[in-house]
Amino acid sequence: MNAKTSANAGNTWRDLPAAQQPEYPDPEALRAAIADLESYPPLVFAGECDELRARMGAVARGEAFLLQGGDCAEAFDGVSADHIRNKLKTLLQMGAVLTYAASVPVVKVGRIAGQYSKPRSKPTETRDGVTLPTYRGDSVNGFDFTEKARVPDPERLKRMYHASASTLNLVRAFTTGGYADLRQVHAWNQDFVRSSPSGQRYERLAREIDNALNFMRACGTDPEEFKTVEFFSSHEALLLDYESALTRVDSRTGNLYDVSGHMVWIGERTRQLDGAHIEFVSKIRNPIGVKLGPTTTPEEALQYIDRLDPEREPGRLTFIVRMGADKIRDRLPDLVEKVTASGAVVAWVTDPMHGNTFEAASGHKTRRFDDVLDEVKGFFEVHKALGTHPGGIHVELTGDDVTECVGGGDEIFVDDLHQRYETACDPRLNRSQSLDLAFLVAEMYRNQ
Ligand code: PEP
Ligand code: CO
Repeated sequence: MNAKTSANAGNTWRDLPAAQQPEYPDPEALRAAIADLESYPPLVFAGECDELRARMGAVARGEAFLLQGGDCAEAFDGVSADHIRNKLKTLLQMGAVLTYAASVPVVKVGRIAGQYSKPRSKPTETRDGVTLPTYRGDSVNGFDFTEKARVPDPERLKRMYHASASTLNLVRAFTTGGYADLRQVHAWNQDFVRSSPSGQRYERLAREIDNALNFMRACGTDPEEFKTVEFFSSHEALLLDYESALTRVDSRTGNLYDVSGHMVWIGERTRQLDGAHIEFVSKIRNPIGVKLGPTTTPEEALQYIDRLDPEREPGRLTFIVRMGADKIRDRLPDLVEKVTASGAVVAWVTDPMHGNTFEAASGHKTRRFDDVLDEVKGFFEVHKALGTHPGGIHVELTGDDVTECVGGGDEIFVDDLHQRYETACDPRLNRSQSLDLAFLVAEMYRNQ
């Protein structure tokens, strides 16, 4: 296949129905934005996507654990050094807890540097008798409830690219420039330890890691691997105009890669087998996730494998299961059993957030920490019973002390929700709740 036909292969989705796409009032402005995006350099390299696919292969085979987390929706005004560092710090701390306490290699992937687009259950929102188009993420329209802000603007696709580029630049600096050095394991916890039980628990673990490092150094070994951390970016491939404008032919192999992020996933609302999203990701070589909600049938799961992983390559396809704490024990076993029986080796990951959302009396969309935990427990139980590998967790979190989910060791009550409710979309675990979760998951993993 020559480069020209190969690049066109990234546009085959255009003939199919694409759910959840914005309706731009000015098609010419959209065409101009796409042309600009097509001229921009890649945000990630194809070779890095291959590396993540290899790491995900280890997850699928049961040799590693995936930690995937970040905001539900990133926001353009959240692209600041403090925000990004706090998020990263939380993920690094969770990674340290899981690696040390569960003794398993942890593949770290952010919902970061591209997670700006949201599928919505309703096209419009009504407040006090006024109905406007729903907010679809900063990549599409504005959060403010005004007619002007809610008009989809294709210039925002370019802002998403630039926001992703600045974020990724900082992430690369933090993860390779010394900040992620394991000897900084205490520094990630400063400003936090005294105020929170999970911070104190972390501090004890960090001391053990320190002792282990000192012991190794005394023995004359100081591995390079401890000085930087491998960290990947991911987001939902929702806006196909953007994703395909950033899909490029890899000069080494002639294959197509979506160079907007290392891994992309397809959400629960856009996973139609005959739809544009599945068609688009079938053409790219990145590692791919598909979210599976409670209505997924084993037959559908097998068809995703045929479409997206025809070569049966461990690491290519990850099923991110989000069924709800009350359904996972009932619905997941059949999927895992039939997929396993088919001989396919996929990575199974739990998203314990999206099946457990409810509206509090105050009107805040929230989640109970106990429900999140219960879904993770159910996920581990199912895999234990079937002898398969619980491959990882996919969570919505922030490094800031928000009050969006209720419960946790440093308990947030329903009445606290208004105090620091900052999410542009779904409620996130705060730093303390995220660390609590990491400790509990490490225990489950050890007992597996
Ligand atoms: C999300 O990950 O933010 C999301 C919308 O998830 P899902 O597609 O599983 O509902
Ligand atoms: Co979400």
